[in-house]
Amino acid sequence: MTAMTQPSLTPAEYRLLAAAGGAAPSLHNSQPWRFRPTADARGLEVYADPARAVPITDPDGRARWISVGAALFNLRTAADHLGRGAAVRLLPDPAEPELAAVLEFSESASAVDPDLYAAIPHRHSSRRPFINRDVPEAVLGELIAAAGAEGVVLSPLEEAGVRQVLALTAEAEQRIAADVARQAETRSWLRLEEPATDGIPAAALGPPDHEARVPMRSFTGPAPAVPSERFEALPQVCTLTTHGDRPEDWLRAGQALEHAWLLATACGVRVSVVHQAVEWPDTRRLLRDPSEGPGHVQMVVRVGYGPPGAATPRRPVSEILDLAGLPESA
Ligand SMILES: Cc1cc2nc3c(=O)[nH]c(=O)nc-3n(C[C@H](O)[C@H](O)[C@H](O)COP(=O)(O)O)c2cc1C
Repeated sequence: MTAMTQPSLTPAEYRLLAAAGGAAPSLHNSQPWRFRPTADARGLEVYADPARAVPITDPDGRARWISVGAALFNLRTAADHLGRGAAVRLLPDPAEPELAAVLEFSESASAVDPDLYAAIPHRHSSRRPFINRDVPEAVLGELIAAAGAEGVVLSPLEEAGVRQVLALTAEAEQRIAADVARQAETRSWLRLEEPATDGIPAAALGPPDHEARVPMRSFTGPAPAVPSERFEALPQVCTLTTHGDRPEDWLRAGQALEHAWLLATACGVRVSVVHQAVEWPDTRRLLRDPSEGPGHVQMVVRVGYGPPGAATPRRPVSEILDLAGLPESA
């Protein structure tokens, strides 16, 4: 069947896609995306929304593109759920720099694992302590393969690497805590959140022996709102690395993040993002293990078993999906 003979998508199908895309993770839950059907209603344009930028924390827009990439993976997964393949063109028009991607739908299902659609509403950031149970090698292998399918290297770190990442994260967290403008920016996003998400413990890095403490991002200023919690003895930490460091790489990193995160969710593995050290050029450089060759760390995630994390609010579909061009949009 040629593209011209593909049946067009209905408004209800577009809404389903947008709801899935909008459920993706994003820096400070900024949700920096907009979606619009293509003129022939057989595709979808995915835009980054500069009005939802987080300029002090994310001056290059790197985290924004990663967030849009995560939404893109959800859109592909939802298209698959509708029985549609989705050919993706990243950054198709240099004259439209905010147009992140165009999805062109076809009748044949794509290569995305359809089971992952069911995981979308269950994927949450889980920032509480995890239990002392390792994620098995086989599951880590699946996460590596999921990221690899998006062209991104997911690396589970050995103990020395984990300690290095935790130390760099604690250092970055201190700088962030001392930066008044940045704190105000963070609060301006997070006041839109439910209290459950705001009250993330500002746990300090603990003694280097048995009791590793995870410097989770504090959204409450330098003084912890609740006493630091005891985290798992040695967190399992993975990095996501790309070869290049441009918007296309960031979009791939976002897709890889969400692919691995949905798969983890389907396997009962919890995930949280530990992004502070990626936000400063010097600590970010040190996150990279030089023995692994060139590359750019885009994300640091902690994986494990523990509480699922709470659902966080999302913008309504009517705000992120522009159906004005569709004939039946009522
Ligand atoms: C690029 C990026 C950076 C993030 N940085 C952090 C972080 O440093 N700490 C954290 O706890 N969560 C971080 N998150 C997770 C978001 O806060 C989270 O996705 C958002 O609040 C929505 O919540 P949910 O993941 O439970 O749906 C990050 C997510 C993305 C995509």
